[in-house]
Amino acid sequence: MMEKKFFDHIIHGGDYNPDQWIKTPEIWDEDMRLMKLAHVNSATINIFSWSLIEPEEGVYNFEWLDTIMDKLHANGISVILATPSGARPPWLAQKYPEVLRVEESGIRNEFGVRHNHCLTSPVYREKVRNINRIIAERYKNHPALRMWHISNEYCGECHCELCQEAFRGWLKEYYHNDLEELNDKWWNGFWSHRVNDWSQINSPKFRGENHVSAMKLCWNRFVSDSHISFYENEIAPLREITPDIPITTNFMKLYDGIDYQKFAKHLDLVSWDNYPAWDKGRNVDEATDTAFVHDAFRSMKDGQPFFMMESTPSLVNWHDVNKLPKPGMQELSAIQSVAHGADSVQYFQWRKSKGGHEKYHGAVVDHCGHENTRVFRDVARLGANLEKLNTVVGKYTDAKVAVVYDWENSWAVKHFCGFNNVNRNYAAECIKWYEPFYKKGIAVDVIPMDADYSKYDLVIAPFLYMLKDGTEERIEAYVANGGNFVATYLTGFADKDDMCFLGGFPAGKLKKVFGVWCEETDSLPEGMKNSASFGGKDYDVVHICDIIHSTGAQVLGTYKQDFYAGMPAVTENSYGSGKAYYVAFRNDDSFAKDFCAQLVEKIGIEPDCGIQAQSGVMMRKRGGTVFVMNFSDADAEVVLDKEYKNILTGETAQGKVILPPCGYLVLE
Ligand code: GLA
Ligand code: ZN
Repeated sequence: MMEKKFFDHIIHGGDYNPDQWIKTPEIWDEDMRLMKLAHVNSATINIFSWSLIEPEEGVYNFEWLDTIMDKLHANGISVILATPSGARPPWLAQKYPEVLRVEESGIRNEFGVRHNHCLTSPVYREKVRNINRIIAERYKNHPALRMWHISNEYCGECHCELCQEAFRGWLKEYYHNDLEELNDKWWNGFWSHRVNDWSQINSPKFRGENHVSAMKLCWNRFVSDSHISFYENEIAPLREITPDIPITTNFMKLYDGIDYQKFAKHLDLVSWDNYPAWDKGRNVDEATDTAFVHDAFRSMKDGQPFFMMESTPSLVNWHDVNKLPKPGMQELSAIQSVAHGADSVQYFQWRKSKGGHEKYHGAVVDHCGHENTRVFRDVARLGANLEKLNTVVGKYTDAKVAVVYDWENSWAVKHFCGFNNVNRNYAAECIKWYEPFYKKGIAVDVIPMDADYSKYDLVIAPFLYMLKDGTEERIEAYVANGGNFVATYLTGFADKDDMCFLGGFPAGKLKKVFGVWCEETDSLPEGMKNSASFGGKDYDVVHICDIIHSTGAQVLGTYKQDFYAGMPAVTENSYGSGKAYYVAFRNDDSFAKDFCAQLVEKIGIEPDCGIQAQSGVMMRKRGGTVFVMNFSDADAEVVLDKEYKNILTGETAQGKVILPPCGYLVLE
């Protein structure tokens, strides 16, 4: 059982923006009292404070931040200190317009909102490095400083001339300074698009080039790499001045503008901002989606624990309709994060703003200003519970099953034109194949296609349309060495430049590995269905299906209608000492569940614990600790398979337990 700890306890706290109360410092003292009442042990500060700490170029004002750092420390609260690049002061934008982002339209944004800097601008990079150096120098020896929070939710892209030139430079490197190679990979002879000078290439735009998928993939990679290099520029002074302070930046769910799987390698730990839409009538599905995302982040550093850097203690203000989650819901959501590998439960934000855009966003302390609120009490109770969970801190989860969800493949799936252009749903497909294991209490890693498969008994790669270099060989070796691999429709059609593999699909040796050849692919308009029989049952075939021939695979299921009735729809092939399965169609109800149940049985994958529970109750094991969580809207029965210790109450637990909605158990 591996372990990696940044703290010896679960971090409980979150975004604290005391700069809002600089003119009423008595609120700062009240905050300290309330934080202790809420069992808060960490505050993330300075995220959006640039215009206060550097009110004019080169003029610095840190006294208030010194006071806050000292106060937090004196009250036993550790500091996660942010670098402020997520929102710049107006003077900076006014004096150096190049820092402002240019939209795809070619129009430069005016000053406003946040997260809108040019990723390339040397001026902005220099200004950010400068302020970060000053912050690091000032607080390097401050005893409260425990972690760096870099910027905030990096996102977006810039189309300014500096970025265009940087894109060309990126392409030169990617294509070995060889324009001919670029022309070939982009298939530029088609439609007479051959370029004869790098300067003819611009970023993809609706009013320019937007039909070359290889180019769009390059742009995605370039933008993603620009964020990473912007970040590397930010952290240079921090690494130099505070080499022992860990660094993270907060990611956003499955945001596809940055390849998080690549970015994660540059972080000491991954963190993400978790805002599920609870209590809108689909809590169990929302729990499944959220679990998948937690597991994706946990898997980015080989299972190392991550931080849940933000969540709301009550509602948000940016949904169309901001429903209040029912009592206990946010607590359950927080426990779910810990169960999946989070070593922190953090909120946006500590105290509700008096003005500004986010004043109606949930916060631990409401506008009323005191602790006698439902939300405050819930947060405090959770904080007290988290203090009992120190034994899980740092603990990894051992998963025997992996689902491949790959950022680059998500781009490729989005960009190609053909087959079903409206129903792609890559993430939903991956979650569909994750769900059967999740609901059985079997841990799943969510990995990129170039991860190490060898530690898994089963790897499922839904809709693996694009194969990065080496993936074909990796799948082949995994199966040859005894692995079980499941692929679905449109697997192995294109390489990393979205060029089709010739010689039949799936690519190259995968035809041998799976024992199938895909001759055609059919797409079904919404509402039109085919069906496939498998294991004595019929399943709907929707949206996309491959028409495959077995070239040696055992046919487990066949299509029932249309001109391909009777042809294989599900196959199993023995290859080397492993097995490769091809599921040629999409199904939206129970196929994945039934198919995975058979695989689990056949391969002998055991649930992580022997507890039985009614549907809607999710189980998750982390280290030696089992979390049992009721996401359903009704009381649910849980049958414990042996005697456990209930960590929260200290009592022993056995036999039948009834969990109310939002109820949870933490057992050892
Ligand atoms: C994001 C940001 C926060 C805040 C919250 C509101 O996660 O990082 O600053 O705006 O959203 O939900
Ligand atoms: Zn730019």
